[in-house]
Amino acid sequence: MSTAAPLLALSELEARAGGLQRCSAWARLCDLANRTPALRELLARADRSRAMVHSAAGLHLDFSRQRVDDSVLAALMQLAEERDLGAWISHLFAGAAVNTTERRPALHMALRNTGREPMYAGGTDVMPLVNAELERFLGVAEGIRDGRIRGSAGGRITDVVNIGIGGSDLGLVMAIDALRPYSAGNIRFHFVSNIDGTQLADLTAWVDPETTFFIVCSKSFTTQETRLNADAAREWLVARLGENAVSSHFAAVSVNDPAMDEFGIAPALRFRIWDWVGGRYSLWSAVGLAVATAIGRQRFLELLSGAHELDRHFATAGHTRNLPVLLGLIAVWNQNVLGVQSHAVLPYSARLQRFPAYLQQLEMESNGKGVLRDGTPSAWPTGTVIWGEPGSNGQHAFFQLLHQGTARFSADFIAPARSERAEQPDRHLAGLANMLAQAEALARGRSEREVLAASPDKTGAKALAAQKTHPGNHPSTVILMERLDPRSLGALVALYEHKVFVQSVILGINPFDQWGVELGKTLAGTMQVALKNPASGVGVPAAAEVIVRLRGDAGRSGA
Ligand code: F6P
Repeated sequence: MSTAAPLLALSELEARAGGLQRCSAWARLCDLANRTPALRELLARADRSRAMVHSAAGLHLDFSRQRVDDSVLAALMQLAEERDLGAWISHLFAGAAVNTTERRPALHMALRNTGREPMYAGGTDVMPLVNAELERFLGVAEGIRDGRIRGSAGGRITDVVNIGIGGSDLGLVMAIDALRPYSAGNIRFHFVSNIDGTQLADLTAWVDPETTFFIVCSKSFTTQETRLNADAAREWLVARLGENAVSSHFAAVSVNDPAMDEFGIAPALRFRIWDWVGGRYSLWSAVGLAVATAIGRQRFLELLSGAHELDRHFATAGHTRNLPVLLGLIAVWNQNVLGVQSHAVLPYSARLQRFPAYLQQLEMESNGKGVLRDGTPSAWPTGTVIWGEPGSNGQHAFFQLLHQGTARFSADFIAPARSERAEQPDRHLAGLANMLAQAEALARGRSEREVLAASPDKTGAKALAAQKTHPGNHPSTVILMERLDPRSLGALVALYEHKVFVQSVILGINPFDQWGVELGKTLAGTMQVALKNPASGVGVPAAAEVIVRLRGDAGRSGA
């Protein structure tokens, strides 16, 4: 898969990262910022609705409530040209080392390449390895589902526990929640990620070790949270079933073979992931074993093929109708030109409850950088703060601030157009109506004059009219899936992955590394020494002293 863009060398592209404000399209966009009409006026234009809906891979994006018109769109397209977006996309799909600081490709698209044409990472076709590993982990998933894979004492698996964090957790929780109607009814799924040990303790209080299966997902196998949880789970299991049970009750996904050896993971239950897959993109790999076990082989392949269809669209469709390109460019316009400060993700489906958390890692770990690809500090805002909750709950919590507060934000409303529960179509429609109403209210607002006009008691209404106005003019996109099924979910996740890449190209940053998570990890080691032994001489912040005092002897004994 490749675009027709002339391919500048990666090093040349990298050197141009700093030039955003020198682009002529940039000056044009800054000029347009003050001249682009408000949303109310834009929405009054004939035919706007239809012209602003774009579709691909079963997703339909309504951009009509974004503050863009033809002039803005033309300038954004020009910006994409000037920032070499086509060439960057070509390099991404060609498996070049687009993760320049770590000198690695970012080829997660190969993991869902259900078309099976060759894809190359650093010149090697990775598809034979990817397909072999896919077959292996789908085999294990099916084995657990149909009872061929059992506990050490022959018990059928009733509980699957995924131990992992970040990309080794968030995508799985999100997908299993989202696809619950497609899930095996006879197996429960659990997720253990937090360092404090409570999730595992709560779980091991009641699950049966003989029928519990653990999947340790850790690309590095050195992540502190995951190691502590995996070691504690192992200890719990060994205390009840003996050392020999480890090889039947634990699977693992990692690049770290020696660590899997040491843990005692059986060869048939260990799965590879590769350096060219970033942790937050690993849902599609064997890290997705829990998801595959929940929804089964066929549905998991549908999840992959939905993402693959979106990949093909991203790699081949013209920029003016390319969903991730439009979504990414409009995000840049909102944040870097219009001054939006954060972005709300508002699913109108309780099943997408964890989708905002999933996107927080995808977007904020990727584009939360202060330094450009060329090593210079960024002179413009980079990663947006992403936050959100299912819309219905949000309406009764933080939407007040959205409608009448002073914060500047943009939003994505996400919903399946059709209900997966045929018996509740009215309930589903009520949710969709609320979603559209919120998008409209945020865009159009309500003037004081309209408040008064709608009130039968004109004199009484005047006193409160100012309190009841809604300023409006808040940009949002409505993202419709045909239904919340594996295929659409795959396409939705791939849409956002590529949107983040588009944003990174325009802003000139490397979205594939995450150096910012390292400092806190190092300091945690020092803090642990200080908390366990206050006399160690390690300088501690005030809170550490309070912790030591509150814990008394318990602090020193490490309890
Ligand atoms: O938070 C940093 C990070 O490396 C993420 O990128 C990753 O998803 C997570 O930690 C877990 O890493 P691992 O899979 O190596 O345990």
